[in-house]
Amino acid sequence: MERFKWECRTKVRSGEGCVAEWLAPLVSEFAPEGSNIMIGYGGGSVKKNGAYDDTVRVLESMGYSPASGDPAEGSRKIVEFSGIMSNPTLAKMLEGAELARKWNVGLIIAIGGGSVMDCCKAAAVQARYEGDAWEDFWMKGKAMTHETVPCGVIVTMPATGSEVNGCAVLTNEETRIKCDRDYPEMNPVFALMDPAYTLTMPVRQLRAGTFDILSHIMETYFSHPVCGNPADDVAEGLMKGLIRDFRAALADPQDIQARSNIMWTASLAENRIIKTGKSLDFQAHNMEHQLSAYTDCNHGEGLAVLHPVYYRHIYKDGLPKFADWARNVWGITDAEALRSEGYAEPGMSDEELLALAGIAALEELIQEAGLPSSLRELGFGDEEERLLPVIAESCFISGGAFRQLTADEILEIYEECW
Ligand code: NZQ
Ligand code: ZN
Repeated sequence: MERFKWECRTKVRSGEGCVAEWLAPLVSEFAPEGSNIMIGYGGGSVKKNGAYDDTVRVLESMGYSPASGDPAEGSRKIVEFSGIMSNPTLAKMLEGAELARKWNVGLIIAIGGGSVMDCCKAAAVQARYEGDAWEDFWMKGKAMTHETVPCGVIVTMPATGSEVNGCAVLTNEETRIKCDRDYPEMNPVFALMDPAYTLTMPVRQLRAGTFDILSHIMETYFSHPVCGNPADDVAEGLMKGLIRDFRAALADPQDIQARSNIMWTASLAENRIIKTGKSLDFQAHNMEHQLSAYTDCNHGEGLAVLHPVYYRHIYKDGLPKFADWARNVWGITDAEALRSEGYAEPGMSDEELLALAGIAALEELIQEAGLPSSLRELGFGDEEERLLPVIAESCFISGGAFRQLTADEILEIYEECW
């Protein structure tokens, strides 16, 4: 195992009704006297699943009231930061930071999925920073030493794990760079996770979000060290459970047990526990982020298209881990049977056979779930195809992958995904 530092300051409260039960004490703990609260949300789904009403009800019971036009009107106001889009932009984050500054906001509450959480977490950083947070933190990765506005989250869509980590992903529309950064200082101070809010998610988001969770675990697992270690032991269990719960939720979208399990798995995948001692790949994420920066495609769907093709490119560089994955996650153990079914090419080792069968099982899950498996299915057309060389050139290269890709190989992968 590599040396590691682990921390997660986020207070998690989970279960149906957790906002009514826990929001008030958490607000009392984190919102300074004499300040206002900003609630951030997206395009309106939170008004249909009850999360918005539950939040406002609690805040009003504590003496908070809706802000009107004048920031000088006093404290205990609820300031609304709405319309946060999927794949949030730097411009939207700056809007939130400005609003927070103008209204003397002492606590930000993000209500929604990863996009809303990320945008609010980043706005909480910029709101108290005199410099250019995008340039200094996202681009240069400088140490974050200033005090940020505390940010709590109310999750309505499990996927990114943003509720328990310090990561925020923003898209700079001018430079066409989508960039993630993970600072412990950006961890939410609390996360309220009521699985009932997720029942209104369209099946498309259920598929995409759950695949994103699986991707986070795989991107962590497929990195050094390849020998057995506690982080990978946990990761294997999470992957097996997630595949089970994914199938259950697709079969019955109202299955609250499956929804609860998926919600917590998203957090366990990203609270850094399974990252302890691992080098971390996340090259599929880097390739997806740039596809998204140029085309605004859906994050989880983009990952579903990329993963099998990417893994066929690199499996030989991390062969023991790919074979373990086939055995321990997919239950594929009998290389001889695969050989007799005609899977093997001349000279192929048992480990290679198992690894490739594991990747094929992943591909089958993607198809079974109804996720896209090509860039065309993702909605790309001739114009996007022309952009692929530029997009490939713009990708960050992961230093923790089994093998570092070149821009040429990324282009090959994109073309194979076509
Ligand atoms: O805008 P609203 O109306 O809220 O609708 C959202 C949005 O359209 C909807 N939704 C959310 N909860 C719902 C719901 N609709 C009905 N019922 C509900 N309960 O779902 C749509 C997608 O939401 P979004 O937040 O964009 O999805 P997701 O959670 O997948 O977040 C994607 C963003 O997170 C970044 C991605 O790159 C992308 O920008 N990531 C963030 C990470 C992190 N912070 O750790 C890591 C990830 O790898 C990822 O890169
Ligand atoms: Zn992701």
